[in-house]
Amino acid sequence: MRIPCGTAANPQRLAGGLTVYGDARRTKAKNRPRCFRRSRAVDVCFYRRLCMDSEVSWDKLARDSVLLKAVSHWRDDAEVWLEGSFDRLAETVRVNPLRRDSAWTENWLEENGAVCIPWFTGQGSAWTLPFERGGAEGEVREVLKSLHETGRVTRQEAVSMLPVIALGVESGDMVLDMCASPGSKTTHIAEYLGDNGLVLANEVVNSRVNMLVSNSNRHGSPCIGVVNHDGRHMPKVPESGFDRVLVDAPCTGSGTTRKNPDVWSKWLPSGGRSLHELQVDLMTRAVAITKSGGRVVYATCSLDPVENEAVVAEILRRNDHLSLLDASQLLPGVPGESGRSNWPSLGDDGRPTDESLAESMLPPTEERISSILHRCMRIWNDRVDAGGFFLAVLEKSADSPSKQKPAEHTLKPDEISPDPRDTPKPLPEELEVSLGKKWGALPNELWIRGKRILISTPQARIVWESERSRKAGRVRIPGGRWRPLRLMHLGLKAALLRKGEFDRIVAGASQRLGAELPGVSTVIDSRLFDELLSNGEAKITETRIEESVGGRILIDIANGDCIPVWVGSRLSLMLADSERRILCMQRDLQIKIVEEE
Ligand SMILES: C[S@@+](CC[C@H](N)C(=O)[O-])C[C@H]1O[C@@H](n2cnc3c(N)ncnc32)[C@H](O)[C@@H]1O
Repeated sequence: MRIPCGTAANPQRLAGGLTVYGDARRTKAKNRPRCFRRSRAVDVCFYRRLCMDSEVSWDKLARDSVLLKAVSHWRDDAEVWLEGSFDRLAETVRVNPLRRDSAWTENWLEENGAVCIPWFTGQGSAWTLPFERGGAEGEVREVLKSLHETGRVTRQEAVSMLPVIALGVESGDMVLDMCASPGSKTTHIAEYLGDNGLVLANEVVNSRVNMLVSNSNRHGSPCIGVVNHDGRHMPKVPESGFDRVLVDAPCTGSGTTRKNPDVWSKWLPSGGRSLHELQVDLMTRAVAITKSGGRVVYATCSLDPVENEAVVAEILRRNDHLSLLDASQLLPGVPGESGRSNWPSLGDDGRPTDESLAESMLPPTEERISSILHRCMRIWNDRVDAGGFFLAVLEKSADSPSKQKPAEHTLKPDEISPDPRDTPKPLPEELEVSLGKKWGALPNELWIRGKRILISTPQARIVWESERSRKAGRVRIPGGRWRPLRLMHLGLKAALLRKGEFDRIVAGASQRLGAELPGVSTVIDSRLFDELLSNGEAKITETRIEESVGGRILIDIANGDCIPVWVGSRLSLMLADSERRILCMQRDLQIKIVEEE
């Protein structure tokens, strides 16, 4: 272990560590070593803080923990693991490639000492910053917060980026994120889909559904739908199944000591055993609603084989038409290790026990299963600058049989409960006509929900229109609804209505819609654009703007940047502080506070 808490820290080392940290932050990014190590002093501060908050020595707590005893049965060098289980995790972020200014964001990260995560592949980029999670200070802290709030970056633990890379999402796919809140993987999937495809982000806990909705709004992707089901009973809608399903399962988090030190005192083997059945049931449903030829990724942040390999083994046992892909081939360069095919049953004292456990928690006895479990990937937190993690990639064979029964009865529209009133619906024709006239064009895939106009993708429409069934296909239900899906949120909020008429385009959609809607946008010169950003308001000097009272998008003639304004006696900027801050930085402008007259 790096710093024994409860004993005095070495002040020389502490001071040395801090000096290195300060110098490195002042040094130009290009002079910094690529693999910038956070200083030991940071670890000292972290554990000191914990020790101050508690009477307990964390060192002793970890040494006496059941988790350490358990790890000694999963690895020969548990002491080495312990040594690498304390450092506070570094701040890591993913850059959203769907933003037109993603190169600016990457440049800002690099200038502030961030380095690319070398094994990150696929859409966008991922970065490690030179400070611990939540440890940014001053200006860097503010900018990072604004980048996150505006959806340009998503803060996410490095290993947590792996499942979506392994999922292999393709444009146009129908994806289910079965245990999705708070949604960092949902937004990652959305970055693969862009405007083509749909990810249904599911969460069972109502209060956590809200987090999912706000993360989806922050990200601003049209391809996210948020649904609220127990994943074990997820409806098979669309009936053809999903191309990809991610099961980021609820788990004991035994791999998270570097961010949740509580795990040292709380973790017990019985915790994993109590989640095992739920994990198997979630995976069973995930496989059932995946298309033939589709892929399911199972992931946890636990190191316990009962929550990991045992779950995968049970799923393989129940499904002949499932193959386990070699995760290391799908994730080249990731410092992961092979899955295990053997593990002891542990009691809550961390020692092997003879207590009889359900068969599905034991190492598999079937050669066809035990011989392939090495294809799973385990990530030990001490061997990678990240948390502990596990993942498995399963593929359903193209010829897996359908369990659909022949249709016996089709319900009539009046035999089906309609969707709740505030569920998104396609735009009524009358509104389409009036918006088309006002906007000068009508983007595809618009929906209405109360006073809000939303934009989604063609796949959302396909799901809504598709026929569905009950009783394994015997009862057919016509489409034209979301039910039985409980849809809580769809796509990107684009515009607001007032008394049924168009009111304004919302700020989060103005960059996307500005150039598409000539009826509500005006191209202006860069000086006026800068003045508005800097002062938050400006005089109206052109009659063509003066004539269009109300909400409008202004487009910078020089580079196509768009901002929403309200046209009244003056022009007033309608932009959130975080977006304004980033645009001002990009244009080298100061934000001025204008005194009320
Ligand atoms: C590990 S977290 C998911 C983290 C998320 N994938 C992310 O990357 O932001 C597991 C989530 O599963 C949810 N959950 C637990 N039981 C569930 C169930 N039966 N069906 C669906 N979700 C469930 C939990 O509430 C929790 O939000």
